[in-house]
Amino acid sequence: MENILVTGGAGYIGSHTVKALAESDEFSPVVFDSLVTGHREAVPESVPFVKGDIHDGDFVAETLEKYHIAGVIHFAAFSLVGESMTNPLKYYNNNVEGTLHLLEGMKQAGVDKIVFSSTAAVYGEPEKTPIMEDFPHNPTNVYGRTKLVIENMMRDCTNAYGLQYAALRYFNAAGAAEGGYIGEDHNPETHLIPLILKTAQGVRDHISIYGTDYPTPDGTCIRDYIHVVDLAQAHILAMKYLLQGGESNYFNLGSEKGFSVREMIEAAKKVTGKDFKVLEEGRRAGDPAVLIASSQKSKKVLGWKPCHSSIEEIIASAWNWHVNHPYGYSKK
Ligand code: UFG
Repeated sequence: MENILVTGGAGYIGSHTVKALAESDEFSPVVFDSLVTGHREAVPESVPFVKGDIHDGDFVAETLEKYHIAGVIHFAAFSLVGESMTNPLKYYNNNVEGTLHLLEGMKQAGVDKIVFSSTAAVYGEPEKTPIMEDFPHNPTNVYGRTKLVIENMMRDCTNAYGLQYAALRYFNAAGAAEGGYIGEDHNPETHLIPLILKTAQGVRDHISIYGTDYPTPDGTCIRDYIHVVDLAQAHILAMKYLLQGGESNYFNLGSEKGFSVREMIEAAKKVTGKDFKVLEEGRRAGDPAVLIASSQKSKKVLGWKPCHSSIEEIIASAWNWHVNHPYGYSKK
C-alpha cells in the first residue's frame, strides 16, 4: 500500500477521490485540508485527517515525512469563477502561492510525484471542438489563469528538480457517489446541476438560463458533464502512471459529449419527476458557447474509461445527494 496525501480531500472532487483511494487495493489516503471551504463530514473517520494549510511548506514537509507519502493529489484551491474576477488576489494567493509552498514542502521532503486538479478553463473560448490538450491556452477568467500559472510552475520544477506531475483538466464535474452521503456543496453554489436540483426540490424558486442567443442549436451553452466518480478513478490512474515512471503530462477529462442548458433542465425534470420554474436571462460574463473534451489521450495513456457519465446517471446520483442533504453538509 502506498500512502497518498490528498490536499483539499474534504472538498467535492477531493472527497470522492479519497473514497476511491480508500476502496482501492494499492493506495491509502491521508487528507490534508484547511476546512476553509471543505467539509470534515465528507471524510470518513477511518481516514487520517490533517488540518493544515498548504501555505505552510514546513508543515507540509513534516506531514509528508510522518506518513511516508509516495505522492500528492492536489485539489486544495478556491474555485468560484465569478469570485476570482472580483477578488483576483485571493485566488493568486491561495491557488498559486499556496501551491508554490506545497511544492517547496514536497521538495524538502523528497516527494516528487503530484497529480494536479486543473481545469478546462485553461483553454478559454476554443476555436473548435473537441478540445485537445495541445490547443491554445487563453483562459477567460482569473480562476483558469491561476490553474495555468500552476501548470507552468510545475513544468519549471520538472525541468529544474525532476518533479513528475499529471495535470488533469476537468470539464464539468457533476454527480455524486452512490449512497448519497457525499456530494457537491459549494457556498455560494453557482453550478448548473446543483442549482437545477435545488429548484426541483423547492429549496430555490427558479432556475435561470444564462443566455439564449448563443450560436448553438437551441441558443443555450453546451457543456461536457463528467461524473465525479469517473474523475476520481482518473486520479488513481494518473498516480499509478507517475509511480510507474510516467513523465510529466496533461490530460483532458470529459465525456466527449455535449449537452445544452435546456437539455440539462429537461433531463432533470425527467429524472426527478418534478416540474419547476425556468426563467430566461441574459448571458453570464465569460461563458464560452461550447466546451467539449477530447479525452482520447487519457484513454490511451492512462487507460481511463468513464463508466458513469450518462446524463441520467449523473443527475440521478446528484439528486440522491440533494434529497438526502437539501442544505448540504451544514444542516442534515
Ligand atoms: N448556467 C445557467 N444557469 C445557472 C448556472 C449556470 O444557465 O444558474 C449555465 C452557464 O451559463 C453555463 C452552464 O450552465 O453555460 C454550466 O455552468 P456551470 O457554472 O455549471 O459550469 P461552467 O461551465 O461555467 O464551469 C465549469 C467549471 C469551472 C470551470 C469552467 C471552465 O465548473 O470550474 O467550467 O469554463 F472553470
